[in-house]
Parts: sequence; structure tokens; C-alpha cells
Amino acid sequence: MILIDGKLTSQQIKEEIKSKVESMTSSGLRAPHLVAILVGNDGASETYVGNKIRTCAEVGFKSTLLRFDSGLTEEELIAEIHKLNDDEEVDGFIVQLPLPKHIDVHHITAAIDPAKDVDGFHPVNLGRMTEQLPAYIPATPKGIMQLLERYKIETAGRHCVVIGRSNIVGTPMSILLSRNAYPGNCTVTLTHSRTENLKEIARQADILVAAIGKPYFVTADMVKEGAVVIDVGMTRVPAPELKQGFKLAGDVDFKAVAARCSYITPVPGGVGPMTIIGLLQNTLLAAQHRIYPAHVRQ
Ligand code: GUN
Repeated sequence: MILIDGKLTSQQIKEEIKSKVESMTSSGLRAPHLVAILVGNDGASETYVGNKIRTCAEVGFKSTLLRFDSGLTEEELIAEIHKLNDDEEVDGFIVQLPLPKHIDVHHITAAIDPAKDVDGFHPVNLGRMTEQLPAYIPATPKGIMQLLERYKIETAGRHCVVIGRSNIVGTPMSILLSRNAYPGNCTVTLTHSRTENLKEIARQADILVAAIGKPYFVTADMVKEGAVVIDVGMTRVPAPELKQGFKLAGDVDFKAVAARCSYITPVPGGVGPMTIIGLLQNTLLAAQHRIYPAHVRQ
């Protein structure tokens, strides 16, 4: 069994990004600038956004965190988004999810200029991704694709089973792995809460992507001998023995499953660190106007 080390891979890619930023700034260009909007004070979102901002500093990006209290209205948030769309000093921005219930996430993603949508959540980017046109690819699937690539995992013709159909992970993952590319060319089965015989289907997977958000959901009897297992889960579970009072649990029962796998990602240290890498890479592409060259503002 080979452990897919997302932490190490993310460090290597951070070095690569950092040297690209250095050559940009030494040729007189400004550093890429990412803005994150955080509404309310959800504990997990605070941690994720904090990590994104900290990692920007590590690679030489400028970053700005805009915080609003949970009473912010949808109209007010859209007005902030319009300001960022028009701000030439901002290359890309994200609105951290989940949002308070009174704000419709579809109205928010639709308000973001696709050329600055470094989360890749805007329908234009999702459509362009599906058509295999240049697009911002959502960060977590983008990070997973790079793990498959850097570990030279064979994907063509293999059966990939994705568990979970979220817009952020499961659905884009299923699209990316079925495209005519490497990694890709898989036969993909997208499973979800209404899937019958999930165990039997999972057991047919050469590549199993667990993105359902249920701790330890994937047990050893759901995994074929020699499968590649990608664990996207990051649920906080109580851990009174730890100072912070919780730990991160994956969607996979790691100890039992690892023994059956050819490759597996751990939690933490697998997919998680690669998600931030996907976001940094999208922001770099935005600063270089690589996805939407016609958008360069004069
Ligand atoms: N919440 C959980 N994952 C993400 C993500 O990738 N982007 C944003 N904006 N919010 C999230």
C-alpha cells in the first residue's frame, strides 16, 4: 500500500508557485491578489479561510479577508461582490460556504465575474469545464487530479466510483474523471444517498472517491483488493483528549481499508492540503489572465 502524501505534494507545488510569483514580481508585475469573503463565524469556515490566507502569504500572494456578520443581507453581499468584480487590484475572490440560510448561494455564485471565480463555482466555469475549455476547476477536484497525476496512477479504462454528488466535489470529480484526458478516461459511477446497493457498487471500483461527509462511512467490505482510495472527508468529531476538543475524521475507515488498497490518502494530510493548492493555482491563472485572456482590463 502506498500512502498518497498530500502534505508533501502540496509543499512541493507551493515552492513551484512561489518561484513563479518571484519571477512575476521581479519583472515588475504585482503579486497575485486573492480576496476571501467570510459571512458569520462558523468555526470550520474560520479555520479554512484562515488557512487559505496564511498559505497565500507563504507563496508571496497578497490576500485580503473581508468579514461580515451573519446579518448581512443578500443584496449587501452582492454589492460587495460587484465592488470586487470591478477592482483591478483583485485577481480572484471566493465567498466561503456555507452561507447563512437567508442568502441564496446560487444568486451569490452567479454575481461573481467568471474571470475572478477562482473557486470555479460559477455556471460559466462549470460549463466550460464540462466542455473541456479553459476554466477554473473547483479546488478540491483539481487537487485530487494532481495527486493522481503526481503519483502516476493509471486511470484510463478504470472504473471510478464517486460517493457524494455535491457541487463542490462529487459532481465536478465525476466530470473530470470521465473526460478524454489524463487523469481521466475512467468509466465513472456517481453514487449518492438514494443509490441502491452502494456497497456492491463501491466494491467494483478501481478508484474510489469518498466525498459524502460521513465519518468512517467506507468500510473494508466496500473496497476491492488493490483499489485506489481517495478520502475527501473532513468532519470534526469530538476528541476530548485533544486541546482543541475535536479531530478531523475522513469518510474512510482508514485502518481497515488501507490494508486492501494499492494507494490511499490519509486524513489529515491527504486531500485537504491539496484543496488550498487548487485555489492558489486558480488565483495564479487569474493573475496571468490565462483562462479569460480577453478579459484583460486596459
Ligand atoms: N466550503 C467548503 N469548501 C469550500 C470551497 O472550496 N470554497 C468555498 N468558497 N467554500 C467552501
